[in-house]
Amino acid sequence: MNRSHLRPFASIVITSLAFSALLQPSKVAAQPAEFNYDESKVPDFDLPELLKLQDGSAVTSAELWRSRRRPEVLTLFQEHVFGRQPDTVPRLRTRERSRKPDALGGRAVRREITVFFSDDDNGPSMDILIYTPANAVTPVPCFLGFNFQGNHSVDPDPAIHITTSWVRNDSTKGNIDHRATEESRGKSSSRWPVEMIVSRGYGVATIYYGDVDPDFDDGFKNGIHSMLESNTTARAGNAGGSISAWSWALSRGLDVLEMDPLVDGAHVSTFGHSRLGKTSLWAGASDERFAMVISNDSGCGGAALSRRQFGETVKRINTSFPHWFCINHRQYNDNENASPVDHHMLMALIAPRPVYVASAQEDQWADPRGEMLSLFHAGPVFELLGRKGLPNDDVATVNQPIQTDVGYHIRTGKHDVTDFDWTQYMNFADRHLK
Ligand code: GCU
Repeated sequence: MNRSHLRPFASIVITSLAFSALLQPSKVAAQPAEFNYDESKVPDFDLPELLKLQDGSAVTSAELWRSRRRPEVLTLFQEHVFGRQPDTVPRLRTRERSRKPDALGGRAVRREITVFFSDDDNGPSMDILIYTPANAVTPVPCFLGFNFQGNHSVDPDPAIHITTSWVRNDSTKGNIDHRATEESRGKSSSRWPVEMIVSRGYGVATIYYGDVDPDFDDGFKNGIHSMLESNTTARAGNAGGSISAWSWALSRGLDVLEMDPLVDGAHVSTFGHSRLGKTSLWAGASDERFAMVISNDSGCGGAALSRRQFGETVKRINTSFPHWFCINHRQYNDNENASPVDHHMLMALIAPRPVYVASAQEDQWADPRGEMLSLFHAGPVFELLGRKGLPNDDVATVNQPIQTDVGYHIRTGKHDVTDFDWTQYMNFADRHLK
């Protein structure tokens, strides 16, 4: 790999970014009543064919998939769904912000590494919080994913830097006037069981997504856009939305982990929940260096099949979150069947690498059945590449994971990340990452 854009630094003092935060994020009810949650009302539809080239000829070999169809499908997602990721890969600089060799009662090495996207310390940057097992004698496989509230929300450790980036207001989480406070420390720790993860021999690395692109519609001015977009007034229909920006930054996180002596960069899995699950899938589809991909409750625009129009729809997501996808995606508002893709094709882009899709029973907004079906319908590509997809499309039994070369479970409970979810991801990783 060409690592010339990476330039490690050793010193510790850095100036954090302060994003202007004047706009409010959209306020969206969790599971609005006016949408369809009734399986019998799912419309009939045909999925776009995975194993047929745009010129109509059949994809009959692994070689044809790799050389012709995969690039076509990737381009379709760039043009019609997420938009393109930034073309440029800046020369990254890294600087260790902190290190605790005996974190978690001596079980983990905990580090914070600041990644600068330019030569300017006051320009865009992101902090990676990394835990690795203290007793590891060789580099460890690692999970890499964004968090919603700041790295300091992952663990109450008072030494973790509190993000100064824009945060979503939530007084119950200690986020006031779009700034995180001391009170917000550890508030997301139930979603990040770091001790359990290191005790099973894995590393876990996380980044606050708001460092990369604050999650509100500001016309693509803040975060990395300030650096990468020269003309933010007239955006092309295929210009990347926030999900593309976030997923691109996950790849920059991987650039850093590949250089990290404590992490086995060839065995890094993306992980993400909800909008960050959509991000995890798009990162894994776009960057084949990721060895495994995990989608936790990613729903519409992630694992779920759009054509089912179950729970959240394309029109609804493009309306509530106009900054997530590319402008071209809006053509499919109330018009899903016209799209040249559906999300089984996003799963197929990850093949033959292992992908795990998880749903939650009460999370009907994310269409658990549609999340499973999209993994199932990617099966022919996994088979063509010598892997096993889901064995059948039977309704999955709750709390009974299915794990082959792909993984799926639906657990009891709501839209969230739980220890049950992480346990399945690590069981799956034991087969595929170690
Ligand atoms: C909203 C949105 C979903 C998204 C979720 C989240 O519910 O409609 O598409 O996955 O937020 O990211 O929490």
